[in-house]
Amino acid sequence: MVNMFLFKSNIFFALFIFVFIIINTTTTPVEGALCERASQTWSWACKNTGGCNDQCITWERAKNGACHSRDGKDMCFCYFDTCDAPFLCERASQTWSGECSNTTGCDRQCQTWEKAAHGACHSRGGKKKCFCYFNQPC
Ligand SMILES: *[C@@H]1O[C@H](CO)[C@@H](O)[C@H](O)[C@H]1NC(C)=O
Repeated sequence: MVNMFLFKSNIFFALFIFVFIIINTTTTPVEGALCERASQTWSWACKNTGGCNDQCITWERAKNGACHSRDGKDMCFCYFDTCDAPFLCERASQTWSGECSNTTGCDRQCQTWEKAAHGACHSRGGKKKCFCYFNQPC
């Protein structure tokens, strides 16, 4: 009698654990999940995950950042606590002339000439342009 009871409760317990594991592995955790966004300010291919991490933290006010390959492109992704985290305001530089291949120069010019927080070169519509980034909303 006692053995039968133990046997039944063990089966019940095993079933309970089984269901618990299934539920745990099939539902995606929402709590503690970070919000991933492609970096707004990273130029070109992302080969330096430490640099991407630094730039996401200091330029984009993210928690961290990392390089990942997506669709054959090495991109820098920033991670935020919440998807409500504000974007930087991006504007094409008003003062940069010609093609933008020196992202350090674009950064400096955006800061000193246009009072932006940062600047970076990006390819848009087949042209390499200098974009400035402002911390306040557009
Ligand atoms: C890029 O710009 C920086 C800052 O203006 C400058 O010091 C550096 O020499 C430039 N690099 C190239 C390759 O032109």
